[in-house]
This record gives sequence, C-alpha cells and structure tokens, in this order.
Amino acid sequence: MQSITIRRPDDWHLHLRDGAMLEGVIADTSRHFARAIIMPNLVPPVVTTADAKAYRERIVKAVPDDDRFEPLMTLYLTEHTQPDDVEAGKKSGLIHAVKLYPAGATTNSHGGVRDIEKAMPVLERMAKIGLPLCVHGEVTHPEVDIFDREAVFIETVLEPLRRRLPELKITMEHVTTKEGVDYIRSAQSNLAGSITTHHLIINRNAILVGGIKPHYYCLPVAKREHHRLALRAAATSGDPRFFLGTDSAPHVDPAKECSCGCAGIYTSINTLSCLAHVFEDEGALDKLEAFTSLNGPAWYNLPPNEDRVSLVRRDQPLSFPEKIETGDGPVTVFNPMFSLYWDVAIK
Ligand code: NCD
Ligand code: ZN
Repeated sequence: MQSITIRRPDDWHLHLRDGAMLEGVIADTSRHFARAIIMPNLVPPVVTTADAKAYRERIVKAVPDDDRFEPLMTLYLTEHTQPDDVEAGKKSGLIHAVKLYPAGATTNSHGGVRDIEKAMPVLERMAKIGLPLCVHGEVTHPEVDIFDREAVFIETVLEPLRRRLPELKITMEHVTTKEGVDYIRSAQSNLAGSITTHHLIINRNAILVGGIKPHYYCLPVAKREHHRLALRAAATSGDPRFFLGTDSAPHVDPAKECSCGCAGIYTSINTLSCLAHVFEDEGALDKLEAFTSLNGPAWYNLPPNEDRVSLVRRDQPLSFPEKIETGDGPVTVFNPMFSLYWDVAIK
C-alpha cells in the first residue's frame, strides 16, 4: 500500500510545557493532531479549574494561525483537590480528565498523591459525574525495582481502587508491560490504556547498550523485548481499549545530557511517520485509524474528527531534524533507529 487516508488523529497524552518551550513545540502537534489531552505537570502544576483555564488560553494563543487544535485540559490530582472544583471544571466543558501522579513517580510529580485515601472524595465524585482518571501507573517505593513498578502498581493500587470504585473510568497511561496489556484486556469495563509511539519501537537495550543513551530514557522506562511485542500486538489489534498517547515530553538537551538526566522523549514531530512504519511492519495498516483516531474519542466520549490526513509512502527516506530549536534551547527528536518513509499529507 502506498497511501492511506485516516481521520485526523488525536494525542491522548501530551506534554506541551509553558512559555518558550510551549511556543517551540506546539506546531509539531497542531500540524497533525486535532486534539490532545494536555498533561498538567507544570511547575507549579495545574491543580484547579482556574489554573487549567489560564493554561488553556496560553496554549491556544501559541497555536499557529493556520492550525485548528483543541487542547483538552486535565487537572493534577493532589491530596487537597476539591471535588466541587473538579465537577465545575467538567460541567463547563473545560476539564476532560484528572491525572494521578504517585508522588515522586516522574518529572514534576513531587506534589502528587502520597496517600490515595486522601483523594477518595474526589475520585468518588469523578465516578459519579463520569470524569475519567488518568493514572501514571507506577509505584514509587524504593524497594520496588524500577522495571517492576508498573506491575506492582496494578496489583497494589489499581486493582484495589477498581474494586472499591468500579464506576470510575480509568485510563492507564503509557502502558509499558505485558502485565499492563493483559490487565486491560481482562477488564470488563471502565479501563482503557494509552500506548506511546516510542514504547512500540524501543526496548531497554536502546537506553543501555553501547553507552548510556539519555534520549531514550523516559518514564515508565522501556522494558524487555517481550513487553514491547505485547504493546505492538495490543496497539495493532484494533481493540477499542488501546489508543495513542504519545507522551511526547520535551526537555532541553542539557537537562537530559547530564549526570542526573530528565525522563522524557520528544516524538510529536515524527510520531505519525513512526506509527505508520510500525503498523505496516505488523501488517496492520488497516488498524492504524482505530489506534490514532477512533478508540480515543470513543473512550473520552467525544466524536471522532471529521477531517482526514493522508499518509503517503515515499520512495526516499524522509528527513527529520535531529533537534528542534526552542526559545529555551535545543530538544532532541526521537530517533527510531530506522529510516522513515511514511509522510503526512494534510487534506
Ligand atoms: C514526562 C515529563 O517529562 O513530564 N516524562 C516522561 O518520561 N514521560 C512525565 C511522565 O509522563 O511520566
Ligand atoms: Zn507523560
């Protein structure tokens, strides 16, 4: 197949940051994607509906004039989040999800939840009003190996929470393990998972073999090959419970290339080319649209986009920049370690 036309995609997990970084990265998303679930882990985080409204305005202002892009805002769950504020945010149409970061799990998560008991009133309200909870599904206990943190989270946090509040819709974000995939598949209802582009392409060797490669380091960290294969099978299956959340997470190079580098991989610019390559490899180009453009909106109770994008397979490899320049400094672009041929042609 040389060309495929799909409904315009959405990104169900995206970090846009703020200020000069926001201005530097927004076009790479708005060029291809109609909507994105915007992560609230700014410094300070987006904790109230008022914060989210102000942040949304800054994003909308940064979108290039020719692009139509709708940021779907989220709130950063804390132990002090007010159920009434969350409900007002949903009712106004501004808030599409609330994000649970276990404290210390990832970039800018120190203000996250330590004791889930304290967040129960908000979670109960969300269950009542049908507002999804997005979870960063990793425990942070020092005794748990970093490669096991997702599996332990499922067992010790997610499953008990789902038993206690079965009406709560939960998105398990950036699933990285076979255990995660199997758990989502086994659920009867109210559980779905997003999968990143990079976790379909790299395993942990990318980070650690032949020298330490900070631009392949993200959280949850990439796992063994059999996990990557499970993610590819899930993403390309057409199962409505799996959809794209790129987790494109820009950090300037000096923040990654140092003795304690930040977690995050920047993929917005070449995500669709990478995904078409992966789906073609799996003989599943016919399932690409479900993953990028149909399953996510269905889960978030939104209509799929009406406009279309075409992906065209070129004869020569495409060239993407190695880095993009932002007002905050250079950001290295994800290198999938194979040539990309699928080009995005906007209708
Ligand atoms: C994200 C970031 O940089 O904000 N980093 C990452 O590695 N994915 C945070 C996150 O989603 O965990
Ligand atoms: Zn993220």
